[in-house]
Amino acid sequence: EKAGFKHFMLKEIHEQPRAIEDTLRGRLDREHGDVHGHEIGLSDDDARSIKRVFLLACGTSHHAAMTGRYYLESIARIPTSVELASEFRGREPMIGEGDLVVAVSQSGETIDTLIAAREAKERGAKILAIANVIGSAIPRMADAAFYTHAGPEIGVASTKCFSTQLANLMMLSIWLGKRRGSLDEAKARELVEAMARLPLLMRDVITGTRQLVCNLAKRYRDARDVLFLGRGLNYPIALEAALKLKEISYVHAEGYAAGEMKHGPIALIDSAVPVFVLMPKDRWYERTHGNLQEAKAREGQVIAIATEGDESAHSLSQDVIEVPDVPEAITPFLTVLPMQLYSYYVADFKGTDVDQPRNLAKTVTVE
Ligand code: M6R
Repeated sequence: EKAGFKHFMLKEIHEQPRAIEDTLRGRLDREHGDVHGHEIGLSDDDARSIKRVFLLACGTSHHAAMTGRYYLESIARIPTSVELASEFRGREPMIGEGDLVVAVSQSGETIDTLIAAREAKERGAKILAIANVIGSAIPRMADAAFYTHAGPEIGVASTKCFSTQLANLMMLSIWLGKRRGSLDEAKARELVEAMARLPLLMRDVITGTRQLVCNLAKRYRDARDVLFLGRGLNYPIALEAALKLKEISYVHAEGYAAGEMKHGPIALIDSAVPVFVLMPKDRWYERTHGNLQEAKAREGQVIAIATEGDESAHSLSQDVIEVPDVPEAITPFLTVLPMQLYSYYVADFKGTDVDQPRNLAKTVTVE
């Protein structure tokens, strides 16, 4: 049941370290800095000959797929596009033999993702499912299934399935990168070791940020609009944070690529708008830091999600939610946790039906 937690969502947020452990079990090959890839359903020759990857998904799974694109491009060096399954369908997509489609779906039953994957299969692409529910429709129609093993997710808001999808996308990228010769030994080992540490790191972030995030939720629960900004690997996390807040607390929120602020949305910022800036120390840090200063100059209530010990973030923001210093590819696994907790606490303060938000179904089987 809820194991002492008030809602399934809160339980599932706290289960993530364990879920990731289950997802990684038997798949990380720490001895060789590699991944055991038999479930991926491709031969080593296939891995080398893939020309492009298409990631198809909806909702939160689409956000995981967006982060997955960074992994596939930077680790496996394969041209990758991410598509909303509902937009891919019926578009006469340019796809065929030599292309790998990765359909990402917690339930494995989302109708748009299923039909989009079918269309791609008919055109000759290979289909790999990343799903949580074993034996569901998408893994059944796919050529192979790489399950997330997060355990049943009851809350309509997807949390532990998101982080385990990231883990599978990262493992897929490492496996492909090793076979294609695009991932060097040292980097592969660094990533595999960092993944092995994830359960511990995630546990620390959940317990270390929980109280501060709850206080922030209390302070900003009545804000009418909330902005989340991020770049690169953390842009999808900004989108995910906004989706979560809309979905369960019915607060209007927007996730934005930080670099797009000055192309319009910065006009929204005033002293009533909390602006969460995802800015771990990564290759995008300096530029995102500049966006934080711009938000502050417009008197936004700025909250940074930053790497431990980032003095500059502390001096510029109202509050700082700290995450440990990890290789940049790993940061989304950690930054998403306080964002999930934030939406949870806002919803709980508002007294909404957290696990069963209005108008939403856990599995979307209608078009
Ligand atoms: O089962 P799926 O991963 O295919 O579901 C996709 C979306 O319906 C789902 O992620 C939805 O956005 C969640 N309720 C978000 O928390």
